[in-house]
Amino acid sequence: MEPVLHAITHRRAIKVFDAATVIPLDLREKVLDAARHAPSSFNTQPYRVYWAESPAEKAAVAKLCLGQAPANSASALVVVVADIGSISATQQAQACWMRKNNFSEEHVCNYERTARIGRLVFAPGPFGIFGAIKKTLFRLVNLCRPMGMPPCSREEIFKWATKSTSLACQNLMIAAEVLGMNTCPMEGFDGRRLLRYLGLSGRQHEVVMVIAIGRKSASYVEQPQWRRPLSATVTVL
Ligand SMILES: Cc1cc2nc3c(=O)[nH]c(=O)nc-3n(C[C@H](O)[C@H](O)[C@H](O)COP(=O)(O)O)c2cc1C
Repeated sequence: MEPVLHAITHRRAIKVFDAATVIPLDLREKVLDAARHAPSSFNTQPYRVYWAESPAEKAAVAKLCLGQAPANSASALVVVVADIGSISATQQAQACWMRKNNFSEEHVCNYERTARIGRLVFAPGPFGIFGAIKKTLFRLVNLCRPMGMPPCSREEIFKWATKSTSLACQNLMIAAEVLGMNTCPMEGFDGRRLLRYLGLSGRQHEVVMVIAIGRKSASYVEQPQWRRPLSATVTVL
């Protein structure tokens, strides 16, 4: 089978990893690089990835993953954080990259203008007041014509960022599988304490997932995998 399809269909959430496995630096770089190649809304890449590998860091993060077995036995724990504070800097970096790569000045200016409008549309404003006004206005416009509803509140902005962040997580896990490693995505963690451990503010950050990564323990036998049949998942229109 084609290697990526094989990795997608054979990936399992592994609960017990081999404690002796050390992830080589080049493999770490490859899976992290795969994560950042994921598509993201407006190419904003609104996330940051923290790799915990030293015994002390792993133990601290595993404890905040409520001591779950995959967290306790993994070779590394990857904390993937939605970062809505990074958007402006990312857009500036992209404009800079466009100029260096000979995009026309008109193209770059259009990009910068769209980015500025996007930031304005997304900004919830103090106490979310601006967001509430925007939402009412957008709803009124939407009564008259079809339109995409931009995120207005902080919660909606995090929901928006979580979509792109999750795609980066999946890329990372599939890349790990292709490279002979195993993973377990986890949402069983204390997000507030994890943010504090990483020195991040809850205003701009939210932990989306912690991914345990390593090599499956030789003694671990996974249960058979169950999925709903295609007919229960897909409606062909
Ligand atoms: C968003 C998300 C959160 C998850 N959280 C946990 C978790 O906290 N602990 C855990 O052991 N597995 C967790 N899992 C793994 C699922 O239990 C697992 O993917 C599911 O049972 C299907 O098994 P499979 O991935 O081996 O096919 C999570 C998976 C996802 C996608």
